[in-house]
Amino acid sequence: MEKKFSSEFAAPVGVFDSGVGGLSVLREIRKHLPSEDLIYVADSGYAPYGNRSAAFIENRATAITHFLLDSNVKAIVVACNTVTVVAVNRLRSWCPVPIIAMEPAIKPAANTTKSGVIGVLATTQTIASPSVSRLCAMYGNNVEVLLQPCPGLVEQVEQAELTTLSTRSMISDYVSPLLSKGADTIVLGCTHYPFLGQMIKEVVGPDVIIIDPAAPVARELSRQLANRQLTSLSDYLGCENFFTSGSVLHSKEVTSKLWGKDVEVEELPRKYCKSISCLPKYATCI
Ligand code: DGL
Repeated sequence: MEKKFSSEFAAPVGVFDSGVGGLSVLREIRKHLPSEDLIYVADSGYAPYGNRSAAFIENRATAITHFLLDSNVKAIVVACNTVTVVAVNRLRSWCPVPIIAMEPAIKPAANTTKSGVIGVLATTQTIASPSVSRLCAMYGNNVEVLLQPCPGLVEQVEQAELTTLSTRSMISDYVSPLLSKGADTIVLGCTHYPFLGQMIKEVVGPDVIIIDPAAPVARELSRQLANRQLTSLSDYLGCENFFTSGSVLHSKEVTSKLWGKDVEVEELPRKYCKSISCLPKYATCI
C-alpha cells in the first residue's frame, strides 16, 4: 500500500476472513470506531476454509497477517471463527501487534437459554475443533449444546445468494434438528451467517434468540486500542480499503451488496497468495 501513517494511532486496523463473511464484523467495527482507517482482506480465492486442513488454514492466515503487517496495521481482527479455533494461538506467538479474535458465543447462549438447549451453527472445522470442545466443557454443564456443521452456507454468502430458495432449504435442513430438540437460542458460529440472519429468523420463528458475536468483538477491539493508547485521534471519518485473493470483479459486486454501498476492491498482491511455510520475519519481534 502507498499510504504511510504519521504515528501509531493513525495507522489502520486490519481485518480478515476466509471471504466476505468478516464484513459482518467490519460493519460493527465501523459503528464503534468511526475514525479508524480499516483494511479488509477477503481470502475468497481460497474460501471456504471450513473443510480445509488446519495446516492450510494456518498458512493462509499467516500470509494475510504478513500483508496486514506490511501495510503497517496497529491491530488485527481475525473476523473468522475457523481461523481463530485453528490458528490464532500460533499467530499470536509471533505477531507484534494485538490480535482480536472470535469463537462461537457458547457462553452468552448458555446464559440466555430458557429451554436449556442451545444450537451452534458453524463450519465443519470449527465444530470439530478442540476450542469448541473446551467451550462446551466450560459453559455447557447445565445446558445441552447441539453442534451443527453447515457445509455449503459459506458458499451461498460468497455468491451473494442471501434470499434464494436453495439457501432457505439448506438453512431449514440445518436448523430443523435443533428446533425439534428444543433449542431456543442459536449461535451464529461463522461470520458469514449474519448475512443470512433475516432468512434464519424467518425459518426459526420469533421465539428463538439468535446470537451474533460481531458487536462484542468490535467493543473488544475498541477496548484494546484504548488500553494501548492506539485509538485514532482524527476528527475525520475513517476509510475502508478492501482486498481480495479471488476475482476482483465478483468481489466488488458482492462486497458492495453486503456493505450497502458501492466500493472498490483491490487484488491482494500475489506474493501473499503463495504458500508461506517458513517462520515470518516478524518472529524476532516478540
Ligand atoms: N467466516 C468464516 C468463519 O467464521 C467461514 C470459514 C469458511 O470459509 O469456511 O468461520
